Amino acid sequence: MEDKIGDGKAEGIVGAPRSRSAVKCETDEMKDRIIVALDLEDRVSAIEMARTLVGTAGWVKVGMTLFYAEGPSIVRDLRALGFKVFVDLKLHDIPHQVEGACRMLTRAGADMLTVHAFGGRAMLETAMKATASAARKFGTVPPKVVAVTVLTSLDDAALKAMGVERSAAEQVIMLAGLARDAGCDGIVCSPNEAAVAREALGPDAFVVTPGVRPAGDAVGDQARTATPADAIAAGASHLVIGRPITGAPDPAAAAKVIRKELQS
Ligand code: C5P
Repeated sequence: MEDKIGDGKAEGIVGAPRSRSAVKCETDEMKDRIIVALDLEDRVSAIEMARTLVGTAGWVKVGMTLFYAEGPSIVRDLRALGFKVFVDLKLHDIPHQVEGACRMLTRAGADMLTVHAFGGRAMLETAMKATASAARKFGTVPPKVVAVTVLTSLDDAALKAMGVERSAAEQVIMLAGLARDAGCDGIVCSPNEAAVAREALGPDAFVVTPGVRPAGDAVGDQARTATPADAIAAGASHLVIGRPITGAPDPAAAAKVIRKELQS
């Protein structure tokens, strides 16, 4: 299995916690750490939005809304604009189904995909094997596989209501360990747990954080949030940002402000 958490071989890994001054001159790196969630309902709107972000964000995210509307070809179209594409379908099923889904997403050209850590170790290991073997078959690079720990819309009270007595942070650490042991490339957690996740997983793992809100922005349905700069300072390798950019009157300008904030 290639590119496991902590083996340091994964191409483009930028996960080490950095001081604010250390990131100052790394302009391109900052661009490659911003993932814009294109939670839009059709190809035309998504492509139009993506075009405005060329040069500002290195990644776009295709989640359930866009993928279920347009299917795998949207991945190819976004890659054609020069983006890396994160396909966030949060796979959570028996290993056999997840194997098939991972193979098809590898064939579609995903650069990164999500599985739910709560699917268990066998499911996570299957995802890693399936992406590696599919990449060999289709002549592509295996997508990074990152395991969703605790959704950023959940807080401790919501977890308790589901029978989880651990705090969100404790649950994230437990599931991060499971993902690491299964060989995953990284995890998804909120910025609030980025520091403990980084400590648990080491400098080379992907620590992808949604729940990012520039100071003063509406939180919406997110429960565990932080500003872009705080998320990076805590150890996030990649920031997933949706509505603060796509819902802004000028999405390209909003993305530029965030990128600038990260570089200052
Ligand atoms: O619009 P907003 O910035 O809240 O979008 C966050 C994105 O990150 C959404 O596309 C959502 O599906 C995704 N996400 C999340 N929490 C997770 C994993 C992914 O909000 N734990």
